Amino acid sequence: MRKITSLNFNWKFIAKYDIKMLENNYDDSDFNIVNIPHTVKELPLNDFDESSYQFISCYRKKHMFTKEDLNNCQILKFYGVSNATEVYINGKFAYSHLGGYNAFSFDIHDFLVVGENQIVVKVDSTEREDVPPFGYVVDYLTYGGIYREVELISVPNEHLTNLRIVSNNPLLKNKPFDCIIDFENNNNKKLTAKLEVFFDDEIVFSCENVTSTNNMVLNGIIENGFLWDIDNPNLYEFKVTLLEGKNELDYVTEKFGFRSAEFTPYGFLLNEKKLKIRGLNRHQAYPYVGYAMPKSMQIEDARFLKEDLCVNMVRTSHYPQSQHFINACDELGLLVFTEAPGWQHIGDEKFKENYKKMVSEMILQNINHPSIVLWGIRINESPDDDQLYIETNKIAKQLDSTRQTGGVRAFKGSHLFEDVYTYNDFNYDGKSKPLCSPISVTKSSVPYLVTEHNGHMFPTKRFDSASRKLEHALRHAEVLNKAYSSNEYCGAIGWCMSDYNTHMDFGSGDRICYHGVSDMFRIPKLAAAVYASQSKNEPYLEISSEMAFGDYDRNTLGKFYAFTNCDAVKVYKNDKYINTFYSNNQNLSNLPHPVIEITDLIGKLIEQDGKYIGKDAKRIRKCLSYIANYGLNRIPFYIAIPFFFTLKKHHISLDEAYNEFGKYLTTWGEKNSIFTFIGLINNKEVCKINKSIPRKMNLNIEPTNTHLTHGETYDVALVRITAISEENNILPYAMHGLHLSTTGNIELIGSPYQSLIGGAIGVYIKTTDKGYGSLQIQSELGNKSVDFIIE
Ligand code: GAL
Repeated sequence: MRKITSLNFNWKFIAKYDIKMLENNYDDSDFNIVNIPHTVKELPLNDFDESSYQFISCYRKKHMFTKEDLNNCQILKFYGVSNATEVYINGKFAYSHLGGYNAFSFDIHDFLVVGENQIVVKVDSTEREDVPPFGYVVDYLTYGGIYREVELISVPNEHLTNLRIVSNNPLLKNKPFDCIIDFENNNNKKLTAKLEVFFDDEIVFSCENVTSTNNMVLNGIIENGFLWDIDNPNLYEFKVTLLEGKNELDYVTEKFGFRSAEFTPYGFLLNEKKLKIRGLNRHQAYPYVGYAMPKSMQIEDARFLKEDLCVNMVRTSHYPQSQHFINACDELGLLVFTEAPGWQHIGDEKFKENYKKMVSEMILQNINHPSIVLWGIRINESPDDDQLYIETNKIAKQLDSTRQTGGVRAFKGSHLFEDVYTYNDFNYDGKSKPLCSPISVTKSSVPYLVTEHNGHMFPTKRFDSASRKLEHALRHAEVLNKAYSSNEYCGAIGWCMSDYNTHMDFGSGDRICYHGVSDMFRIPKLAAAVYASQSKNEPYLEISSEMAFGDYDRNTLGKFYAFTNCDAVKVYKNDKYINTFYSNNQNLSNLPHPVIEITDLIGKLIEQDGKYIGKDAKRIRKCLSYIANYGLNRIPFYIAIPFFFTLKKHHISLDEAYNEFGKYLTTWGEKNSIFTFIGLINNKEVCKINKSIPRKMNLNIEPTNTHLTHGETYDVALVRITAISEENNILPYAMHGLHLSTTGNIELIGSPYQSLIGGAIGVYIKTTDKGYGSLQIQSELGNKSVDFIIE
């Protein structure tokens, strides 16, 4: 039977390479002991030289094989090594693979001896011109190392090699499917393939057949089967067992979901129902360790996108990503547009051959995932190359006739061989109209999806001013609003989920592109609220301002906004009612949940104070509201004259007015001004936020998980640390120092000396063994600790 052994612990690694290292008896005592996922070089958060990880390095590992083991095939599987790999077993060359993003596996049986065997992996992390995406510039880093898991799979000579499930009519009540099974059967033995289908651990279908060939199609019907969709991501488990007579030789399982997905010129249809795509692009990179993060962090990103950012699609820009991530998208109901590696540049013939191979690897390795609804088979933003892209489209169609293809362009009128015109639309600069019309880009009526927007048009750091963060959020809202305005847009995928490290040619000069709606630690910026507020699950309310008047030009707060899925927001100041603002009369009204503009902080306050009522109160309010939005200069006559008339009527001078009405425009002199925002759904109060200038500052600690698993490899938890006020609001300019330390069986990733960046930072810890671990955080804002149980 199939036996899978994880080969992740205790590799020997050195950040250089010499041909002698391939030999069995090479003295590797100066190598470091490392675990996989591994990066060839840990990096600082920013301000580093990207050439520092671009070298050739060597990994060595000894493994024992018994006589019985050698009766079987021994398949060595690498899930991801960046960027080019050669594997040697006992000094002999066994396999090579180009490209950092697809898995590869091969049988090492013929190289093995009984007893100790030496595996050596030569990893080239340089930017080789024959390997996409390299050859010119690239706006992201590709890091280096055996950064995804490694397995040894022991199987008999007759074993399963591929399992593919297809349903050509998933919308029928009784769901038909074909299960296409490939296996090794060189001696034409009479073999049985048995299929069992499980739903919620219960068997719902089984059948079997016999053959002497090396493939078989088993078809069947799941009666009253469930569909997979984004709200109910129902997954069936297909288990295929290969037998010789009664003797079980091998088995594999694959998850599958029944669903139809179609991009049309009039919108995207999931199971024939219209769904507007609201997505974000994801790079698989993390601070310090680049790509090298285990399963839990891959799953956390999918959760973050689905549950915190509430998007319905992720684009795995610009390469295939971890199986753990895609599995989580299947489980959570998050649609995926995945694409083969590349960035703008098309190299020579060798490069193109490698690209085509990467396209087929991507499709073959990801074919059963219901979450994937589109293959990207064109190098992101590359120029037209008809021959290449006719071929990649053909490859995709031959391997998978059930999915549509796309290829991301950055120019109009490109030759379209794929099904969907996928376009990066950076047209919006805050003033122009958001998004080009589809027909102006495609020149004919074809399915159309915006695959990037915003990004470099408005980089925004979490420690930027309130006005900039607001504009960042509103720009995302404007584009989404436009995408919702017409069925011709299947949707829009924003750039991007999180800030990321990049080459010197890009970013803010510190090797970071601050393009994310969250920072590198996946801590949301204000723009994240635009996405989150479009969800329908729980009441959601975020206010765009910290109500710090002095953070704005002229000390005037101006318009600010509620990002919310509520129908209305009631506003109070120090428990006095100001006004209610409704979602149904807003500018961004195409959004499922329009952004609510809060235009007035005076509202009913003047009347409530009692001295001025009726017309007088109205005139004063109008003038003060103008000043609150635009400052004292150039008050229009039609506002100023009635205001002065009222002052005269009540015998107050300008100086007196200044003192008397200042309290409506600022919080000067008030002991503690608290603004309260209450979200209403169907007139019921469902959520509440208080905003005030903080007096108490605390550290808030949110670990992603405190129950970790040190199993197939080490585990990682992210601890999000924020400085918060007594009202639980993040202090946007808190930059306090932190000292981090650990006890027990965990260690820190990154430096023990950190500081909050714009009120927030993330800390990653990783397990070193089972047991327990504790993270201590010391700072001027207090000391905290997090305990972990490790199983
Ligand atoms: C696009 C590119 C992305 C990223 C983005 C920044 O042109 O496809 O990878 O660089 O710009 O806005």
